[in-house]
Amino acid sequence: YKRITVKSLTEMKSQGEKIAMLTAYDYTTAKILDRAGIDVILVGDSASNVMAGHETTLPITLDQMIYHASSVIRAIKRSLVVVDLPFGTYQSDPKEALRSAIRIMKESGGHALKLEGGKEIKESIKRILHAGIPVMGHLGLTPQSIYKFGTYTVRAKEEAEAQKLKEDALLLEKLGCFAVVLEKVPSKLAKEVAESLTIPVIGIGAGNGVDGQVLVMHDMLGMSKEFSPRFLRRYLDLHTLMTGAFEQYITDVKAVDFPSEDEQY
Ligand code: KIV
Ligand code: NA
Repeated sequence: YKRITVKSLTEMKSQGEKIAMLTAYDYTTAKILDRAGIDVILVGDSASNVMAGHETTLPITLDQMIYHASSVIRAIKRSLVVVDLPFGTYQSDPKEALRSAIRIMKESGGHALKLEGGKEIKESIKRILHAGIPVMGHLGLTPQSIYKFGTYTVRAKEEAEAQKLKEDALLLEKLGCFAVVLEKVPSKLAKEVAESLTIPVIGIGAGNGVDGQVLVMHDMLGMSKEFSPRFLRRYLDLHTLMTGAFEQYITDVKAVDFPSEDEQY
C-alpha cells in the first residue's frame, strides 16, 4: 500500500487526477473505504448528525471526534485521514485551537485537520501549521455557522460574499493549508477558485470544475430518505436494502425459520 500524503494531493492536482474523498466515523466502514482505494477519509463533524442524531454539527465534542477518528485510524493502510476540529474548540483563541489540534493528533493518530472559515481564524490556522499539523480549509457553506446563515442553501451567490470567499481561499493557500473544501457554492465560482490556487479544492455541491469531490458516505449510500439536495448522487438505496433485510430477519425469527439446523451447534 502506497500511503496518500498531503503532498500526494498537490501532485494529483498538478497531474489533473481528481481526488476522491468520503466521510467515515467508524472502523468497519473506514476499512472498506481504504481497501476500495479512496484517497481521503474525512472524519467529519457531520458525525454529530449522522451518528448522534443532532440537528446540527455544533454539539459534537472534541472527545467524541477523537473517539471516531481513532476508530477510523485503526482501519487505515493507505488513505489520508482528515479530522474536523469541532465547533467551539478553535474559534475563541489560537492557543486553545492549538491545544485542541494537538489533542486530536496525539489521541487519534489522524493525519491532518479541517477547520471552517477564512480570515476570522487566521491566527489559529497559523499556530496549528507552525506545530507541523497539516490543515485543510473549509469555505462556502460552513455548517458550524448555520445559525448565522439561517438556512442550508447555496452560499456566495452575491458578489460581496463571492469576493470574500475568493480572498479567503487565497489566504488559506498563503498560510500553508494543503487543500480547501468548498461547500455548496456556484460551480462557476468554485472553478474560478480552483484555477486560482495551486492547492487542491475539493467540492461538495460545488460542481465539477474543482480538483476533487467529497460526500457524506451515509448520504451517497442512500441510508436516509429525507436528505436529498441536488448535489447528492445516491450510489445505493441502502435504506431500502437494510429495511428489507431487517424485515426478513424479523419474519424468520417469528416463524422459527432462523436459525435452521445448519445454523446451530
Ligand atoms: O463534516 C463533514 O462531513 C464535512 C463534509 C461535508 C465536507 O465537513
Ligand atoms: Na464538517
